[in-house]
Amino acid sequence: STTHSGGLDLTGRHVVVSAGGTRERLDPVRFLGNRSSGRQGYALARAAAARGAEVTLVAANVTLPDPAGVKVVRVESTAELRDAVLSAAAAADAVVMAAAPADFRPVHRSETKIKKAEDGSAPSITLEQNPDILKELSSERPRPGAVIVGFAAETGDDSGSVLDLARAKLARKGCDLLVVNDVSGGAVFGAEDNEAVVLAADGTAVDVPRGSKGALAHVIWDQVAARLPSS
Ligand code: CTP
Ligand code: CA
Repeated sequence: STTHSGGLDLTGRHVVVSAGGTRERLDPVRFLGNRSSGRQGYALARAAAARGAEVTLVAANVTLPDPAGVKVVRVESTAELRDAVLSAAAAADAVVMAAAPADFRPVHRSETKIKKAEDGSAPSITLEQNPDILKELSSERPRPGAVIVGFAAETGDDSGSVLDLARAKLARKGCDLLVVNDVSGGAVFGAEDNEAVVLAADGTAVDVPRGSKGALAHVIWDQVAARLPSS
């Protein structure tokens, strides 16, 4: 496990971390999902517990073992993730949205298995947008003074660089910190290592060199701890 200089600096704090990828059911055997492994969220939960925090980990479809000393709440869909995060956030000093919520869900969920048609035609699936949990947390502020943290995996595109897009996303979401992964070069999904920039709404940016997800987790908690109101 990764060491840090913070000691038990999160003692007496309650933090909420979401992890994994949500699934939106199409029928009893199929879902829309994504490749998030939950590793970064689990590393955050472990690191916060090691620093003395009371941790609620909201886990969406993660196959990793429960971290010791952490309360784990299991969810499947974005709607369930939203309910679990918002209810835990009421008592939280910090909320870190490391999960990858499905952005869309099917308008209709079939109660029976969708069958192939004889004529070779394929069904159309109509999607609707899911609620944006991070945006809601950031605007509603269920607990005043709590630090709200988002994640973003970005590739640059015609409209801007990774950092331009990330700054715009931070402003759009209204959170306090945004942890940005540059995924132009390949996959972060399922990887052991991570490299990131922690952007803050107050304008600072902390570069985190390639290292373990545990090491990144501790840098994130350092940034959170520096912004917590004194208890
Ligand atoms: N997020 C959320 N609720 C959603 C979608 C995303 O809370 N319905 C959170 C993620 O957990 C993450 C942050 O928002 O912390 C950014 O996620 P991202 O997918 O990058 O943001 P989107 O607004 O969905 O933008 P994009 O169109 O780039 O997917
Ligand atoms: Ca998204």
